[in-house]
Amino acid sequence: MSVTSAAGAARLGLATFCVATAMAMIGQPAAAQPAPQAPSATDDAAKLAKGRDVFNNYGCASCHTLADAGATGGVGPSFDGDPNLSHDFVVDRVTNGQGPMPSFGGQMTPEEIDAVAAYVVHAAKK
Ligand code: HEC
Repeated sequence: MSVTSAAGAARLGLATFCVATAMAMIGQPAAAQPAPQAPSATDDAAKLAKGRDVFNNYGCASCHTLADAGATGGVGPSFDGDPNLSHDFVVDRVTNGQGPMPSFGGQMTPEEIDAVAAYVVHAAKK
């Protein structure tokens, strides 16, 4: 094997890797979801329903993907199966924002922020 063809093969391998990486980033697999967990006492149905309304009314869906809400936004991270999500973490992000994520602390009541956090954490595990 000549040096030239070895370099060519290396380039081809790199190109294949790049395409595979790009496709992996675009096509987020929706399968392999963890088993549903029983809601905690504070995540009652009324609060979750309110949180879902808040999620839709404040435009979270335009930037985030969340299957339960029919949201397919791709600006911020997808919430489906996101292991970072805890109630306090979502409350903090929604209240204060982070980078391109706007803060909603001045627009939402504490009850709305609490409800949307409960909803996002709950729905992301579905
Ligand atoms: C204009 C687009 C936009 C809107 C609207 C938006 N977000 Fe975000 N969000 C982002 C971006 C971008 C990030 C990533 C920020 C970073 O870490 O740099 C993010 C991050 C987050 C995170 C942290 C996720 C993680 O795993 O790090 C949460 C939680 C979140 N957003 C919740 C919400 C909720 C709830 C709403 C609606 C009230 C909302 N976002 C509205 C763009 C948006």
